[in-house]
Amino acid sequence: MAHVVTEACIKCRYTDCVNVCPVECFHEGPNFMCIDPLVCIDCGVCVGECPVDAIRPDIALSTHEQIYVKLNAELARRWPAVSESSGCLPEADEWRQRPGKLNLLIR
Ligand code: SF4
Ligand code: F3S
Repeated sequence: MAHVVTEACIKCRYTDCVNVCPVECFHEGPNFMCIDPLVCIDCGVCVGECPVDAIRPDIALSTHEQIYVKLNAELARRWPAVSESSGCLPEADEWRQRPGKLNLLIR
């Protein structure tokens, strides 16, 4: 069991979440953040930090969000771990309420 970053993060990547994680399991990509499921201790502290509610426990994901379980695991192996906020992306506020962002994720 782990927490998972979902679609709302794409093109926003506010990075508030990384400041509170006690085990440094966030990995940062060009326009998305992911959680390493092998490191996450499922504490839930990061959930309330995300301004767009992108982080959820894997057991709470809907069927169409299941793809993010695999994506977080895959991208965590590819991207560097981060432990400090780097601020949001410049277009974050413009994209925060837009649906259908998965095809805009840059690996
Ligand atoms: Fe880190 Fe806890 Fe969030 Fe997992 S649930 S990513 S351990 S803050
Ligand atoms: Fe993404 Fe939310 Fe963290 S937008 S980078 S999961 S604070």
